[in-house]
Amino acid sequence: MNKNQFLWGASTSAFQAEGAYLEDGKGLGTVDVRVVPEGIADTKIASDHYHHFEEDLLAMKELGLNVYRFSFSWSRIMPDGHTVNEKGLAFYDKIIDRCLEYGIEPLPTLYHFEMPQALVDKEGGWLSKSTIEAYASYAKTCFERFKGKVKTWVTINEQLIVSAASDLHGIHAQSEEESMKNMYQISFNMSIAEKKAMQILKQIDPESKIGPVCSIQIVYPNSCDPKDICASYDAEEMMMYSLLDMSVFGHYPKRYTSYLKARGWLPSVSKEEENLLKSIRPDFIGINYYFPLTVKAPGKDHDFSKLPPFWRSTLFEVTDNPYLEKSEWMPNGMDPMGLYLGIRKLYDRYRLPLIITENGMAYSDRFEDGNIHDSYRIDYLDAHIQKIKQAIEEGYPVFGYCPWSLIDLVSSHQGFGKRYGLIYVDRTDTDEKECARIPKDSYYWYRERIKKGF
Ligand code: BG6
Repeated sequence: MNKNQFLWGASTSAFQAEGAYLEDGKGLGTVDVRVVPEGIADTKIASDHYHHFEEDLLAMKELGLNVYRFSFSWSRIMPDGHTVNEKGLAFYDKIIDRCLEYGIEPLPTLYHFEMPQALVDKEGGWLSKSTIEAYASYAKTCFERFKGKVKTWVTINEQLIVSAASDLHGIHAQSEEESMKNMYQISFNMSIAEKKAMQILKQIDPESKIGPVCSIQIVYPNSCDPKDICASYDAEEMMMYSLLDMSVFGHYPKRYTSYLKARGWLPSVSKEEENLLKSIRPDFIGINYYFPLTVKAPGKDHDFSKLPPFWRSTLFEVTDNPYLEKSEWMPNGMDPMGLYLGIRKLYDRYRLPLIITENGMAYSDRFEDGNIHDSYRIDYLDAHIQKIKQAIEEGYPVFGYCPWSLIDLVSSHQGFGKRYGLIYVDRTDTDEKECARIPKDSYYWYRERIKKGF
């Protein structure tokens, strides 16, 4: 990475883009076996990137990108969790070699919501120590194979989200209590695995950089009532600092620790694990940012039961923010200021370089006269880039920006009705068609924005 060159990129992830879910020796991934609601696209074909990658990479080159943030499919590289599939690695050889030929730095994520289902079925997945070892061995395989070509690595994408979502990590608990306990143990085990990967990389290729990607959760208090202020701090700690403190410092924040302990959810740590957690720090932090949250101190009658597990806390209650513009797919509001605040908060706490690895606007895009006029997305991206510019001018070391997503992808849970791409993929949830690529207005706008630079 040229230190002085800002990285302009775009993001995808393997299970959301590639398709070819059983081709060339790929094994079943956790996301391939989940039950998808009727009428919603699954991972079998996704955006068919596996067969369109040449076209997609050419579109990146023409867009002027100098970084591509994507992920390896763990189940393509290690179908049973242990045995290497040469054809799987060969696919990423092609992607990486073409990126380098086009002057695009490859920025792969090792684990983005997808892993071999065999590890869950046979070994208990992320609840087992053997999956930690399987991840370390998978990471080692990738580091050795792509040494000299990949200079920057991401360990885990959005640990908070994946440790909470049973359809992504594949472990289905028998009760609510068990699923809460599992979430914290799974997350802890991922932290151990991440540190092992960092250590292995530094042995194989000491010059390479490695870091986590965090779905940063900026949280506003609903009012200036000190109880709401404390609730917003608790929520940020629960959803953001707990993960990053572990990645950077090797421990959880105090109040988070005592909250988990009081409920019997605090994973036990051996001396060896404690040493490992504190032995190494990431080189950078990747930021995924879509929207902020607003919370208040929980009311007496607040019903937690239907909330996502990481919002199911007795310390805060998510509420509406009337100051933010909302849309169908962005009900929590759109807020570039949240990204600016996130950059400041993360840098001031961790003093590490930052890269925006995801940021984007979901919309049910429509064809009009053969084009997709997504001015709403242009406005969203432009406003967020403005805030990054401000942060950089004020001295914050943000070294790259990758909107989500390069092409339309199957959304993590809502299929193709919810799109983020700069490039339209012509398929619907129920009709795959040819998956033809059509650049949206935002693609052409982003090309000019990259040329302009900061
Ligand atoms: C991030 C993930 O959480 O947000 C992506 O890293 C995901 O995988 C993206 O697709 C948008 O979320 P969704 O649920 O709208 O697809």
